[in-house]
Amino acid sequence: MKGVLLAGGTGSRLQPLTTITNKHLLPIYDRTMIQWAIEAVVNAGITEIMVVTGGTHAGEFLRLLGNGNAFGIDRLSYGYQDRPGGIAEALGLAERFVDGDAVLVMLADNVVERSIRPMVDSFMAEPVGARILLSEVNEPEHLRHLGVPVFSPEGKVLRIEEKPDSPASNYAVTGIYCYDSSVFNVITTLKPSGRGELEITDVNNHYIDAGTMTYEVLEGFWGDAGESIDAYYTVNDFVRAHGANNDTAPTTAEHN
Ligand code: DAU
Repeated sequence: MKGVLLAGGTGSRLQPLTTITNKHLLPIYDRTMIQWAIEAVVNAGITEIMVVTGGTHAGEFLRLLGNGNAFGIDRLSYGYQDRPGGIAEALGLAERFVDGDAVLVMLADNVVERSIRPMVDSFMAEPVGARILLSEVNEPEHLRHLGVPVFSPEGKVLRIEEKPDSPASNYAVTGIYCYDSSVFNVITTLKPSGRGELEITDVNNHYIDAGTMTYEVLEGFWGDAGESIDAYYTVNDFVRAHGANNDTAPTTAEHN
């Protein structure tokens, strides 16, 4: 399985901090943001990784990460996104790198308390379709900025709504996804959304419609450090107090 870390975009919600650097190079406690995402992926047993970024600060990733060996990466590739055309567009740039393999995709502004290895192991036991990771979020105001699953009474995910005005559940779709190699075909079928981006939620809804989406619910803290300045500091405070990517206790509750 390959890993793809998405670290492009404009970081507009963290301005003016992101005027002087890429969002994923901002500090979270004692490291840059992207290092926590790299650690999550490497701890899940994936050591062939592509970092996709863009914008004027892209070269700084090379300066920070080099060939990746110091971070436990065996093979590190870089992708450059010409304009922030969406998460799914950024993932599409990794097609040749992934080369027919399964792929773990992580948005590099996501930080998790617990290891994501169980999710990866579950997907690799039957690497077909997609597997997403949900996190319980009890504030509707927060959910309005995220992808939110709609459940059937039996707990099946019927669809995912991106940034809904009225969130249909108390769960967020985190930015951590497993796909089989068909994801690159799915991306070619997408149309830009109202905000002009190729949406990862449209990719996930494709797998739901095909009946090949599974999910699990993450236990422990999950944060999207790029959501707002307040969210950025919430993640900083959490990681400073508790760390991240900890290999303790059960990580997820299993669902199909
Ligand atoms: O963090 C979880 C949320 O991430 C999900 O709940 C949503 O369903 C999903 O759409 C996404 O929402 P965001 O509004 O947080 O996405 P954002 O535009 O902030 O982009 C997330 C990451 O993807 C960010 O770290 C940079 C990367 N990215 C984004 C865009 C738009 C790229 O690499 N290229 C891009 O063009």
